[in-house]
Amino acid sequence: MDKIEITGGKPLNGSIEISGAKNAALPLIITSLLTPDTLTLKNVPNLRDVNQLTKILGNHGTDLAVDGKRASGNKYIGETMHLTSRDIVDTTAPYEMVSTMRASFWVLGPLIARCHQAKVSLPGGCAIGTRPVDLHLQGLEDLGATIDLEDGYVIAKAPGGLKGGRVRFQKVSVGATINVLMAATLAKGETIIENAAVEPEIGDVANCLVKMGAKIEGIGRKTLQIQGVDHLEGAVHTVLPDRIETGTFLMAVAATGGDVILKGAVPDTLTAAIEVLKEAGVEIEEVSAGLRVSRKNGALKPIHVETQPHPGFPTDLQAQLMALMTIAEGRSVIRETIFENRFMHVQELARLGANISLNGDTAIIEGVKELRGAPVMATDLRASVSLVIAGLVASGKTQINRVYHLDRGFEKIEEKLGNCGAEINRVSE
Ligand code: UD1
Repeated sequence: MDKIEITGGKPLNGSIEISGAKNAALPLIITSLLTPDTLTLKNVPNLRDVNQLTKILGNHGTDLAVDGKRASGNKYIGETMHLTSRDIVDTTAPYEMVSTMRASFWVLGPLIARCHQAKVSLPGGCAIGTRPVDLHLQGLEDLGATIDLEDGYVIAKAPGGLKGGRVRFQKVSVGATINVLMAATLAKGETIIENAAVEPEIGDVANCLVKMGAKIEGIGRKTLQIQGVDHLEGAVHTVLPDRIETGTFLMAVAATGGDVILKGAVPDTLTAAIEVLKEAGVEIEEVSAGLRVSRKNGALKPIHVETQPHPGFPTDLQAQLMALMTIAEGRSVIRETIFENRFMHVQELARLGANISLNGDTAIIEGVKELRGAPVMATDLRASVSLVIAGLVASGKTQINRVYHLDRGFEKIEEKLGNCGAEINRVSE
């Protein structure tokens, strides 16, 4: 299993190209199940989760070509994907395929919308809380599906097709919003989704669906209105830049010091995180290429933050912010309101010398003068990258084990950081 070794203490200088957003690419790939025509996606990041999802779609009958070449079972290596789901040959998404990645559960909406039936294993993904799917199922029931749970599978049926309906989510959920939105595009009549999530990735998916012929009003707002259509067509769509990767590099530079341009970054998608970093004393400015981040001198100021659905501070940047605050001057407080078990990085950061105490959903971070390198273990996707940030500032060598978590969501991270002066290497065993 691969490891990452970092010798910390080097500032980051240079430029980094931001990749396409994982959390947009995954549902965009899934939308291809809604049409027999070819969906072309550009700027798709080369990630483990993307690879895994293309295998799941292959099982349903989707034909994949990457940069014009057939995938033929080899690893996906390009950036432009052509996905054609001419016939759905299997409406079952089996446990072995779905269990490693939660987003694969989102095939449920498109399958039931197009084929009127689906059998999808309950999902896996990062172990960051119970992560139920009740909102997804309730939403699909509101569109007329009958749902049964059997042996760890969701069995959904809608003989005669889904019918538009009113869906009011009790809680804001990215996945449930996307699942129901995709399903509603092919339902008969009008669907209203209230209390929808407004993460930029949902807007990206909705915009792609519109290109495919879907009728959606209210994109980017908390109420979505969808007029069902008979069929969707192919389209060409470019995946939006990854705001979580952007925020992660902002924090890495804030931690090490230096001056870096994040090319292609879209500041509007991470306003809350930029504000928090500015409050901490990090210099961030919009430039024509994207964002410029620097910290040349002066200690980091501590912050008080709680995670919230978009446009609030994202839970997917909580671990990275915590890594940064371990070296701030004073006490920071970070409250995690989205996932109940998303503090697994705390004990690993402690191994590097961080002083963090937990009280329920709140972490109290007392800034220390320095972190010291040590072997640590990646536990989930965002937690892993918080260890990379900590390793970049720690004195001496940090070895991060179980980096497959990192490979699920961060493209070429060693190369991107290495090009800016970090001493970071992958060790394959
Ligand atoms: C997505 C993102 C993930 C991010 C999360 C929150 C992808 C692939 N993943 O995950 O990176 O951390 O949004 O921004 O885009 N919930 C329920 N019932 C449900 C569904 C969710 O109670 O049926 C709860 C969850 O347990 C959690 C909260 O709602 O407490 C938000 O989860 P949700 O927005 O659904 O997260 P995901 O879509 O899984």
